[in-house]
Amino acid sequence: AIGPVADLPIVNAMISPDGFEKMAILAGGTHPGPVITGNKGDTFKINVSNHLNDDSMLKGTTVHWHGLFQRHQNQMDGLAFVTQCPIAPNNSFLYNFNVGTQVGTYWYHSHYGVQYCDGLRGPLIIYDPEDPYRFFYDIDDESTIITLMDWYHLPSPQVQRQVTPDSVLINGVGRYDGGPETPYAVINVQPFKRYRIRLLNLACKPNYIFSIDKHVFTILEVDGEYVEPLVVDSIQIYAAQRYSFILETNQPIDNYWIHADPNTGTNSTAILRYSGAPQGDPKNRTEPSKFPMNETNLHPMQSTLTLESPPPPALLQKEADVKINLVLSKNMTTYNFLINDFQYTSPSVPVLMQVLSGAMSASDLAPTGSVYTLPRNKVIEISMPPDDAPGRPHPFHLHGHKFSVIRSAGSTAYNYVNPVMRDTVTTGVAGDNVTIRFVTDNPGPWMLHCHIDWHLYVGMAVVFAEAPEEIPSAQPVNNASKQLCPIYNEMPSET
Ligand code: C2O
Ligand code: CU
Repeated sequence: AIGPVADLPIVNAMISPDGFEKMAILAGGTHPGPVITGNKGDTFKINVSNHLNDDSMLKGTTVHWHGLFQRHQNQMDGLAFVTQCPIAPNNSFLYNFNVGTQVGTYWYHSHYGVQYCDGLRGPLIIYDPEDPYRFFYDIDDESTIITLMDWYHLPSPQVQRQVTPDSVLINGVGRYDGGPETPYAVINVQPFKRYRIRLLNLACKPNYIFSIDKHVFTILEVDGEYVEPLVVDSIQIYAAQRYSFILETNQPIDNYWIHADPNTGTNSTAILRYSGAPQGDPKNRTEPSKFPMNETNLHPMQSTLTLESPPPPALLQKEADVKINLVLSKNMTTYNFLINDFQYTSPSVPVLMQVLSGAMSASDLAPTGSVYTLPRNKVIEISMPPDDAPGRPHPFHLHGHKFSVIRSAGSTAYNYVNPVMRDTVTTGVAGDNVTIRFVTDNPGPWMLHCHIDWHLYVGMAVVFAEAPEEIPSAQPVNNASKQLCPIYNEMPSET
């Protein structure tokens, strides 16, 4: 692990996570990139240097810190053409940000084109010295991380939109159809211990049903928020979501399959190996999940465990100040996605720079039709009504905030009392009307987008310009960032 002060070189390298050699774009030379860690309240200083030179892929880059609010520091959000221009080859950018009171399981990834699908992604963990669950559950080990990723054998610019990944990777290794028998990832455990395991979906596309034979999970954290403990035996995890849970190693000493079954692509497995078990593969799969996780059963921790519980969700008790419907559709000629009839395309000047240059209204801000201005300190309610857009379910992520999930996919109930808070939510399949709420307490341009990176690339995004008139005073802006940064843009324009 590195951090909170570290260098993060972005490099090209050949890797073969599933036995097939492919040129990749990597943070720190590994896939996933190094785990970046820090403590609550830390200032992170991550110097990202760009050493990319392979002509088959993007050579510019950015790094986004998924789930971090970047309060008063929107310019550190790492979102190409919203908060910065891409970092040109042979240049570097110092991401310098304080994480405030945020704790838990996050990640980082390129936010330029579909570049993270070529490998630029890794976990980011913020430890909480006052973690209320550490002592309550007598946790023995917190070091285990399980990443789920998808992998494509073609460089991302050549991957077609409706692709199926060639393989699914658990902790960076997997197998593809017809490929070699790459060794499975192994999680080694001691019997009769309590492990806090962090599970992250770093994929560009699939969601996975995750389970471990004969074991149950006690979920403690969702996307960086503590939740009331919830016991389940499988978790459907969508692209960009995270969970941490307790795994008790209370079964006979043996090997057990870890399953990650994607909604697109081939099932993937790894091994949970108790100390003392033989080195071989586990026996066959056990019976199907009996109590899968259901999002409506997740609730913020109402702590009797700590004195400082999360503030009561006052935002839930009244009518929202602003209600916005976002209707997804697809242009059946170009196959691009639209939200309220507009396809998001990257503007040539980052939205933050547009605001700092004086553009304050939606009609003055580019890209036309995709920028919504929001007033400060209001309760915003976003609904995503049933639609005909293909490619469901779409995992939608909001930058700069966590939101309360008032109505979850697959549910008709609205929860204004104790809905789970998270930063990425699935819109479900046809007939859902997923509804979220958040408070505009963080001036800046923040994107809301589908985290299937192939969908974002063809337009499934909007930008909320939150309290634009307060953005200049909300963050220290030096003269250099007021300039239109040297435009580095090699993205082919979409038609
Ligand atoms: Cu994981 Cu727009 O981010
Ligand atoms: Cu999508």
